[in-house]
Amino acid sequence: MADLHPPPPCPPGTEPLVAVRGIVNSFGAQVVHDGLDMDVMPGEIFGIVGGSGSGKSVLLNTILGLRTPQAGQVRLEGRDLTKLGPAELRAVKRRYGVTFQHGALFTAFTVAENVKLPIAESLALPEDVLDGLAHQKIRLVGLPAEAAHKYPSQLSGGMVKRAALARALALDPPLLFLDEPTAGLDPIAASAFDELLLYLQRSLRLTVVMITHDLDTIYRTCNRIGVIVDRRMISDTLENIVQNPHPWIQEYFHGERGRVLEQALRPSAVAHRAPSGTGAASAGDGVR
Ligand SMILES: Nc1ncnc2c1ncn2[C@@H]1O[C@H](COP(=O)(O)OP(=O)(O)OP(=O)(O)O)[C@@H](O)[C@H]1O
Ligand SMILES: [Mg+2]
Repeated sequence: MADLHPPPPCPPGTEPLVAVRGIVNSFGAQVVHDGLDMDVMPGEIFGIVGGSGSGKSVLLNTILGLRTPQAGQVRLEGRDLTKLGPAELRAVKRRYGVTFQHGALFTAFTVAENVKLPIAESLALPEDVLDGLAHQKIRLVGLPAEAAHKYPSQLSGGMVKRAALARALALDPPLLFLDEPTAGLDPIAASAFDELLLYLQRSLRLTVVMITHDLDTIYRTCNRIGVIVDRRMISDTLENIVQNPHPWIQEYFHGERGRVLEQALRPSAVAHRAPSGTGAASAGDGVR
Protein backbone atom coordinates (compact mmCIF):
# COMPACT_ATOMS: atom_id res chain seq x y z
CA MET A 1 0.00 0.00 0.00
CA ALA A 2 3.07 2.25 -0.01
CA ASP A 3 2.51 3.82 -3.44
CA LEU A 4 -0.92 5.29 -2.83
CA HIS A 5 -1.73 8.91 -3.63
CA PRO A 6 -4.85 11.06 -3.60
CA PRO A 7 -7.11 10.34 -6.58
CA PRO A 8 -6.54 12.35 -9.79
CA PRO A 9 -8.89 15.25 -10.63
CA CYS A 10 -12.09 14.63 -12.59
CA PRO A 11 -12.20 15.57 -16.29
CA PRO A 12 -13.90 18.95 -16.94
CA GLY A 13 -17.66 18.73 -17.47
CA THR A 14 -18.16 15.82 -15.04
CA GLU A 15 -21.44 16.09 -13.11
CA PRO A 16 -21.07 16.26 -9.31
CA LEU A 17 -22.17 13.24 -7.29
CA VAL A 18 -23.16 15.48 -4.40
CA ALA A 19 -24.38 19.02 -5.10
CA VAL A 20 -25.31 21.31 -2.21
CA ARG A 21 -26.82 24.69 -3.05
CA GLY A 22 -27.69 27.67 -0.87
CA ILE A 23 -27.93 25.78 2.41
CA VAL A 24 -29.11 27.81 5.41
CA ASN A 25 -29.01 26.25 8.88
CA SER A 26 -29.65 28.12 12.09
CA PHE A 27 -30.43 27.31 15.71
CA GLY A 28 -32.45 30.18 17.18
CA ALA A 29 -30.39 33.32 16.62
CA GLN A 30 -27.25 31.34 15.74
CA VAL A 31 -26.76 31.12 11.99
CA VAL A 32 -24.43 28.21 11.21
CA HIS A 33 -24.70 28.15 7.41
CA ASP A 34 -25.85 31.04 5.26
CA GLY A 35 -25.95 30.13 1.58
CA LEU A 36 -23.43 27.30 1.62
CA ASP A 37 -22.60 25.56 -1.70
CA MET A 38 -20.58 22.39 -2.16
CA ASP A 39 -19.86 20.00 -5.06
CA VAL A 40 -18.30 16.57 -4.68
CA MET A 41 -17.11 14.96 -7.89
CA PRO A 42 -17.20 11.20 -8.55
CA GLY A 43 -14.09 9.33 -7.44
CA GLU A 44 -12.57 12.06 -5.32
CA ILE A 45 -11.65 12.28 -1.67
CA PHE A 46 -13.14 15.60 -0.65
CA GLY A 47 -11.98 16.96 2.70
CA ILE A 48 -14.18 19.30 4.74
CA VAL A 49 -12.33 21.47 7.23
CA GLY A 50 -13.28 24.40 9.44
CA GLY A 51 -12.95 25.53 13.02
CA SER A 52 -14.70 23.65 15.80
CA GLY A 53 -18.35 24.72 15.73
CA SER A 54 -18.17 26.01 12.14
CA GLY A 55 -20.90 23.56 11.14
CA LYS A 56 -19.17 20.55 9.59
CA SER A 57 -21.27 17.92 11.35
CA VAL A 58 -24.47 19.95 10.85
CA LEU A 59 -23.64 20.05 7.13
CA LEU A 60 -23.12 16.29 7.07
CA ASN A 61 -26.47 15.70 8.79
CA THR A 62 -28.11 18.00 6.24
CA ILE A 63 -26.58 16.15 3.29
CA LEU A 64 -27.65 12.81 4.77
CA GLY A 65 -31.25 14.00 5.11
CA LEU A 66 -31.10 13.75 8.92
CA ARG A 67 -31.68 17.47 9.26
CA THR A 68 -33.95 19.71 7.20
CA PRO A 69 -32.25 23.03 6.44
CA GLN A 70 -34.12 26.34 6.60
CA ALA A 71 -33.29 26.82 2.93
CA GLY A 72 -31.30 25.23 0.14
CA GLN A 73 -31.07 22.01 -1.79
CA VAL A 74 -29.08 18.78 -1.62
CA ARG A 75 -28.74 16.59 -4.71
CA LEU A 76 -27.24 13.11 -4.52
CA GLU A 77 -26.53 11.53 -7.89
CA GLY A 78 -28.68 14.27 -9.47
CA ARG A 79 -31.73 13.63 -7.29
CA ASP A 80 -33.11 16.32 -4.98
CA LEU A 81 -33.46 14.63 -1.59
CA THR A 82 -36.26 16.97 -0.47
CA LYS A 83 -38.45 15.82 -3.38
CA LEU A 84 -38.18 12.06 -2.79
CA GLY A 85 -40.82 9.89 -1.18
CA PRO A 86 -39.91 7.56 1.73
CA ALA A 87 -39.21 4.50 -0.48
CA GLU A 88 -37.00 6.47 -2.89
CA LEU A 89 -35.21 8.11 0.02
CA ARG A 90 -34.47 4.68 1.52
CA ALA A 91 -33.03 3.55 -1.81
CA VAL A 92 -30.81 6.65 -2.00
CA LYS A 93 -29.65 6.13 1.57
CA ARG A 94 -28.46 2.64 0.68
CA ARG A 95 -26.08 4.30 -1.79
CA TYR A 96 -23.98 5.86 0.94
CA GLY A 97 -22.10 4.68 4.01
CA VAL A 98 -21.41 6.88 7.02
CA THR A 99 -19.17 6.89 10.05
CA PHE A 100 -20.37 9.49 12.55
CA GLN A 101 -18.17 11.63 14.78
CA HIS A 102 -19.85 10.32 17.93
CA GLY A 103 -21.28 6.89 18.62
CA ALA A 104 -19.46 4.98 15.92
CA LEU A 105 -20.82 1.52 16.89
CA PHE A 106 -23.63 0.02 18.94
CA THR A 107 -21.89 -0.89 22.18
CA ALA A 108 -24.23 -3.78 23.04
CA PHE A 109 -23.43 -5.59 19.78
CA THR A 110 -20.26 -7.35 18.63
CA VAL A 111 -18.36 -6.02 15.61
CA ALA A 112 -19.92 -8.70 13.39
CA GLU A 113 -23.42 -7.86 14.64
CA ASN A 114 -22.77 -4.17 14.03
CA VAL A 115 -21.71 -4.86 10.45
CA LYS A 116 -24.58 -7.28 9.82
CA LEU A 117 -27.22 -4.82 11.01
CA PRO A 118 -27.45 -2.57 7.92
CA ILE A 119 -27.29 -5.61 5.62
CA ALA A 120 -30.09 -7.41 7.46
CA GLU A 121 -32.20 -4.23 7.43
CA SER A 122 -31.99 -3.97 3.65
CA LEU A 123 -31.73 -7.54 2.39
CA ALA A 124 -33.60 -10.69 3.44
CA LEU A 125 -30.68 -13.10 3.63
CA PRO A 126 -30.08 -16.28 5.64
CA GLU A 127 -27.99 -15.87 8.80
CA ASP A 128 -24.96 -17.75 7.43
CA VAL A 129 -24.84 -15.49 4.36
CA LEU A 130 -25.06 -12.41 6.60
CA ASP A 131 -22.21 -13.82 8.70
CA GLY A 132 -20.12 -14.41 5.58
CA LEU A 133 -20.70 -10.87 4.29
CA ALA A 134 -19.90 -9.34 7.69
CA HIS A 135 -16.63 -11.28 7.93
CA GLN A 136 -15.69 -10.21 4.42
CA LYS A 137 -16.10 -6.52 5.35
CA ILE A 138 -14.22 -6.99 8.61
CA ARG A 139 -11.24 -8.45 6.76
CA LEU A 140 -11.52 -5.77 4.05
CA VAL A 141 -10.78 -3.02 6.58
CA GLY A 142 -7.76 -4.91 7.90
CA LEU A 143 -9.22 -6.22 11.15
CA PRO A 144 -8.23 -9.71 12.31
CA ALA A 145 -11.01 -12.31 12.03
CA GLU A 146 -11.20 -12.67 15.81
CA ALA A 147 -12.24 -9.00 16.12
CA ALA A 148 -15.64 -10.01 14.72
CA HIS A 149 -16.73 -11.46 18.06
CA LYS A 150 -15.49 -8.60 20.22
CA TYR A 151 -17.60 -5.79 21.65
CA PRO A 152 -16.58 -2.17 20.92
CA SER A 153 -15.31 -1.75 24.51
CA GLN A 154 -12.83 -4.59 23.85
CA LEU A 155 -11.26 -2.85 20.83
CA SER A 156 -8.50 -0.25 20.53
CA GLY A 157 -9.43 3.20 19.18
CA GLY A 158 -7.99 2.36 15.77
CA MET A 159 -9.92 -0.91 15.65
CA VAL A 160 -13.16 0.91 16.47
CA LYS A 161 -12.55 3.27 13.54
CA ARG A 162 -11.96 0.31 11.22
CA ALA A 163 -15.01 -1.53 12.51
CA ALA A 164 -17.13 1.59 11.91
CA LEU A 165 -15.71 1.71 8.38
CA ALA A 166 -16.62 -1.96 7.87
CA ARG A 167 -20.19 -1.16 8.87
CA ALA A 168 -20.29 1.88 6.58
CA LEU A 169 -19.17 -0.37 3.70
CA ALA A 170 -21.66 -3.12 4.54
CA LEU A 171 -23.95 -2.44 1.58
CA ASP A 172 -21.14 -1.73 -0.91
CA PRO A 173 -22.02 1.96 -1.25
CA PRO A 174 -20.30 4.02 -3.95
CA LEU A 175 -20.27 7.05 -1.63
CA LEU A 176 -18.73 7.26 1.83
CA PHE A 177 -19.08 10.03 4.42
CA LEU A 178 -16.59 10.07 7.29
CA ASP A 179 -16.78 12.50 10.22
CA GLU A 180 -13.36 12.83 11.90
CA PRO A 181 -12.24 9.25 11.12
CA THR A 182 -8.75 9.68 12.58
CA ALA A 183 -9.61 11.79 15.63
CA GLY A 184 -8.09 10.34 18.78
CA LEU A 185 -5.70 8.02 16.94
CA ASP A 186 -1.93 8.21 17.41
CA PRO A 187 -0.03 9.35 14.29
CA ILE A 188 0.92 5.81 13.27
CA ALA A 189 -2.62 4.49 13.56
CA ALA A 190 -3.94 7.58 11.77
CA SER A 191 -1.43 7.08 8.96
CA ALA A 192 -2.45 3.41 8.65
CA PHE A 193 -6.09 4.49 8.46
CA ASP A 194 -5.25 6.98 5.69
CA GLU A 195 -3.52 4.24 3.69
CA LEU A 196 -6.51 1.97 4.18
CA LEU A 197 -8.80 4.74 2.95
CA LEU A 198 -6.67 5.32 -0.17
CA TYR A 199 -6.55 1.59 -0.84
CA LEU A 200 -10.33 1.20 -0.45
CA GLN A 201 -11.06 4.32 -2.47
CA ARG A 202 -8.98 3.02 -5.35
CA SER A 203 -10.00 -0.63 -5.26
CA LEU A 204 -13.73 -0.03 -4.66
CA ARG A 205 -13.84 3.18 -6.78
CA LEU A 206 -15.36 5.08 -3.88
CA THR A 207 -16.20 8.73 -3.65
CA VAL A 208 -15.31 9.93 -0.16
CA VAL A 209 -16.43 13.02 1.76
CA MET A 210 -14.33 13.33 4.88
CA ILE A 211 -14.62 15.85 7.69
CA THR A 212 -11.26 16.15 9.39
CA HIS A 213 -9.11 18.40 11.54
CA ASP A 214 -6.08 16.31 10.71
CA LEU A 215 -3.65 18.07 8.38
CA ASP A 216 -1.59 14.90 7.89
CA THR A 217 -4.71 13.12 6.65
CA ILE A 218 -5.59 16.02 4.34
CA TYR A 219 -2.16 16.08 2.71
CA ARG A 220 -2.03 12.30 2.38
CA THR A 221 -5.50 11.61 1.05
CA CYS A 222 -7.54 14.56 -0.24
CA ASN A 223 -7.54 15.93 -3.76
CA ARG A 224 -10.01 18.75 -3.07
CA ILE A 225 -10.86 20.64 0.09
CA GLY A 226 -13.92 22.59 1.22
CA VAL A 227 -13.26 25.04 4.03
CA ILE A 228 -16.21 26.32 6.05
CA VAL A 229 -15.52 29.96 6.88
CA ASP A 230 -17.94 32.82 7.50
CA ARG A 231 -20.90 30.37 7.32
CA ARG A 232 -20.09 29.39 3.69
CA MET A 233 -17.72 27.01 1.97
CA ILE A 234 -14.64 27.86 -0.09
CA SER A 235 -13.69 24.80 -2.20
CA ASP A 236 -10.66 24.14 -4.35
CA THR A 237 -7.86 21.71 -5.02
CA LEU A 238 -5.39 21.36 -2.19
CA GLU A 239 -2.73 23.08 -4.31
CA ASN A 240 -5.02 26.11 -4.83
CA ILE A 241 -6.69 26.27 -1.44
CA VAL A 242 -3.35 26.73 0.31
CA GLN A 243 -2.97 29.96 -1.68
CA ASN A 244 -6.37 31.34 -0.68
CA PRO A 245 -5.78 34.60 1.19
CA HIS A 246 -8.58 34.11 3.75
CA PRO A 247 -6.90 34.57 7.16
CA TRP A 248 -8.33 31.39 8.66
CA ILE A 249 -7.19 29.32 5.67
CA GLN A 250 -3.74 30.89 5.72
CA GLU A 251 -3.29 30.18 9.41
CA TYR A 252 -4.67 26.66 9.11
CA PHE A 253 -2.41 25.57 6.25
CA HIS A 254 0.61 27.78 6.88
CA GLY A 255 0.70 27.88 10.66
CA GLU A 256 3.74 26.20 12.16
CA ARG A 257 2.39 22.65 11.92
CA GLY A 258 0.99 23.20 8.45
CA ARG A 259 4.36 24.35 7.08
CA VAL A 260 6.18 21.25 8.26
CA LEU A 261 3.53 18.97 6.81
CA GLU A 262 3.22 20.59 3.43
CA GLN A 263 6.96 20.32 2.90
CA ALA A 264 7.06 16.72 4.06
CA LEU A 265 3.94 15.39 2.40
CA ARG A 266 3.06 17.52 -0.62
CA PRO A 267 6.04 19.35 -2.14
CA SER A 268 3.80 20.34 -5.08
CA ALA A 269 1.58 22.40 -2.75
CA VAL A 270 4.64 24.30 -1.53
CA ALA A 271 5.80 25.00 -5.09
CA HIS A 272 2.44 26.56 -5.96
CA ARG A 273 1.65 28.47 -2.84
CA ALA A 274 1.75 32.23 -2.36
CA PRO A 275 4.60 33.88 -0.48
CA SER A 276 4.28 33.41 3.26
CA GLY A 277 3.61 36.22 5.71
CA THR A 278 -0.11 36.53 5.06
CA GLY A 279 -1.07 34.43 8.08
CA ALA A 280 -3.52 35.83 10.59
CA ALA A 281 -2.89 35.95 14.29
CA SER A 282 -5.25 33.10 15.06
CA ALA A 283 -7.33 30.47 13.34
CA GLY A 284 -9.21 29.32 16.39
CA ASP A 285 -8.60 25.70 17.22
CA GLY A 286 -8.44 24.50 13.63
CA VAL A 287 -5.01 22.93 14.01
CA ARG A 288 -5.07 20.24 16.62
N1 LIG B 1 -29.20 20.37 17.62
C1 LIG B 1 -28.57 21.53 17.84
N2 LIG B 1 -29.16 22.50 18.58
C2 LIG B 1 -28.54 23.68 18.79
N3 LIG B 1 -27.33 23.99 18.29
C3 LIG B 1 -26.70 23.06 17.57
C4 LIG B 1 -27.28 21.78 17.30
N4 LIG B 1 -26.43 21.05 16.54
C5 LIG B 1 -25.36 21.85 16.34
N5 LIG B 1 -25.51 23.04 16.96
C6 LIG B 1 -24.55 24.15 16.94
O1 LIG B 1 -24.15 24.37 15.60
C7 LIG B 1 -22.76 24.72 15.56
C8 LIG B 1 -22.04 23.81 14.60
O2 LIG B 1 -22.00 22.50 15.16
P1 LIG B 1 -21.23 21.30 14.48
O3 LIG B 1 -21.42 20.12 15.33
O4 LIG B 1 -21.65 21.20 13.06
O5 LIG B 1 -19.71 21.82 14.53
P2 LIG B 1 -18.43 21.13 13.90
O6 LIG B 1 -17.90 22.06 12.85
O7 LIG B 1 -18.74 19.75 13.49
O8 LIG B 1 -17.43 21.17 15.16
P3 LIG B 1 -16.35 20.07 15.64
O9 LIG B 1 -15.14 20.31 14.80
O10 LIG B 1 -16.11 20.45 17.07
O11 LIG B 1 -16.93 18.71 15.49
C9 LIG B 1 -22.25 24.66 17.00
O12 LIG B 1 -22.25 25.96 17.53
C10 LIG B 1 -23.28 23.80 17.70
O13 LIG B 1 -23.40 24.13 19.05
MG1 LIG C 1 -18.27 17.89 14.21
